[in-house]
Amino acid sequence: MCGIVGVLGQHEVSPIILDALKRLEYRGYDSAGIATVNQGKLDRRRAVGKLINLSDTLVHQPLPGRSGIGHTRWATHGGPSVDNAHPHQAGRVAVVHNGIIENFRALREELAEQGAQFTSQTDTETIVQLASHYLDQGMAPVQAARATLKRLDGAFALAFLFEGEEDLIICARRGSPLCIGHGEDEMYLGSDAIALSELTDRITYLEEGDWAILTRNGVHVFDADDHQTARPMTRINAAQARVDKSGHRHFMAKEMAEQPGVLKAAMEVYSGVDHGGIDLPEGLDFAAADRLIMVACGTAHYACQVAKYWFEQFAGLPVELDIASEFRYRAPVLGQKNMALFVSQSGETADTLAALRHVRGHVAQVLAVVNVPTSSIAREADVVLPIHAGPEIGVASTKAFTAQLQVLALLALKAGFARGHLSEDAYRTRLEELRAAPGFVAQALDREDEIRRLTEHLARARDVLFLGRGVMYPLALEGALKLKEISYIHAEAYAAGELKHGPIALIDKDLPVIVFAPHDALFEKTVSNMQEVMARQGQVLLISDAKGLAEAGEVPFRLQMPTVPDLIAPIVYAVPAQLIAYHTALHRGTDVDQPRNLAKSVTVE
Ligand code: AGP
Repeated sequence: MCGIVGVLGQHEVSPIILDALKRLEYRGYDSAGIATVNQGKLDRRRAVGKLINLSDTLVHQPLPGRSGIGHTRWATHGGPSVDNAHPHQAGRVAVVHNGIIENFRALREELAEQGAQFTSQTDTETIVQLASHYLDQGMAPVQAARATLKRLDGAFALAFLFEGEEDLIICARRGSPLCIGHGEDEMYLGSDAIALSELTDRITYLEEGDWAILTRNGVHVFDADDHQTARPMTRINAAQARVDKSGHRHFMAKEMAEQPGVLKAAMEVYSGVDHGGIDLPEGLDFAAADRLIMVACGTAHYACQVAKYWFEQFAGLPVELDIASEFRYRAPVLGQKNMALFVSQSGETADTLAALRHVRGHVAQVLAVVNVPTSSIAREADVVLPIHAGPEIGVASTKAFTAQLQVLALLALKAGFARGHLSEDAYRTRLEELRAAPGFVAQALDREDEIRRLTEHLARARDVLFLGRGVMYPLALEGALKLKEISYIHAEAYAAGELKHGPIALIDKDLPVIVFAPHDALFEKTVSNMQEVMARQGQVLLISDAKGLAEAGEVPFRLQMPTVPDLIAPIVYAVPAQLIAYHTALHRGTDVDQPRNLAKSVTVE
């Protein structure tokens, strides 16, 4: 997603803004730019591609000034080009924007009729042309910004910078996150606290609909009705927000390696060893629920697909699943005894947030399982369950996925016990199985060298098929997504039993087929599906445990996982899914942490 930064500094701001933009690179982008006001004059530099190109531009064409705004653009309207890069400028005003202006075409026509000259294909340019129009009508900057905001429909986080105003930035938040940083006689703004983590640990999060006036003396926040309001200033854990690769080649590698520690630490939060039970936030009432609706996107959705098995098996609670971008358009039937659960690593995914807003007030409780407790989804839920995974920078979600599974498993066990579906003994046994997950994940990570060798042939594949049954089917989906998104190889996943209903036509000697099959109740059936594949020369890689590999007989490629309790198999088998994608991508030389076309947090619908 796009990244926004603003600085009212005591020194030249271009290098400060560039450095802050680097901490937003993980969001994904294809162009960048900075605008400053220097001796009253507004100017800007923009470049396509990575920030190094903008940095080179600034070396050859310095951009002085102690007030500035910066932006990394993930293209929505109009391809990556200098003309489409932000900041956009019209007359005496410049703007940076994250989101989508849904009425930009009507505004563009209206402004063009009034003589506005557009130089880009973006929706953002209508914002700055509108503000410029109001300035030309004699409005002061604050009034022009306010009048502009009132005309905009859609989701945005944005910042205005004005010619002649060395101590003023106006910013606004509607649907996309924006935070304010408090410095020493300096003020900052950013899309998230990570961007500002080298500048300050004192952060004010704007709420939905807020807009704000920044000067070096501080910030004045106004709500959607223009009433001045106070938003709390919090101290973030700057060290935690300040992320680096800790010696790993990629953030994804670091985050995969962090999984045992993350899972162990989160387990301590929800079920300290001395406690023996599961500590969940007050107010969670599973006993009264008649249905659980789970909504998410991408990897988070696959975590929900696994959790569906757990809630139905352990708690006897019917579960309805949906991907967020479809959910509210199908007129879902909601009831006052339903619980709705939204899973999101970033807590800012626009589709998931919109789905949450669709159910609020129509169900008993809205739960959020997130990695960012200050995020929009967290703030708008009734009960928040953080996964405590720490910042996840790699676009491909890894530690967040296994941490989501862990928290969802805890929820399912707690629900089962609360609903009398799980006996005390079964509850405690399952809980101990969950507590053992970090150690087994560490053992799975130890297979990395073997997995690297096994993926060499995958790198040359045009297509790859992933198969699984039961809880291993969502794992197959997750494995296919991981491979697609970082190696760019087309991959699909099927429930193994579904193969003979069509997909088996794909099988030939050139098609790698990866089968997730721990020795569980569905093992025999999965192996017979696998044999149907091998009978047609499919190149099978079977991922199973010792017993499964012994019983499966001859298989072209095999990977042994530790023998684990069924409950935690999805958490442990996520590791080979991640490492297969990672090493295949390395073989292919793709950008593992910032794959093409992708963003870490999709804050547009
Ligand atoms: C997963 O590797 C992808 N990056 C993507 O599918 C992601 O899971 C999805 O966009 C949801 O993001 P969220 O968890 O932040 O809502």
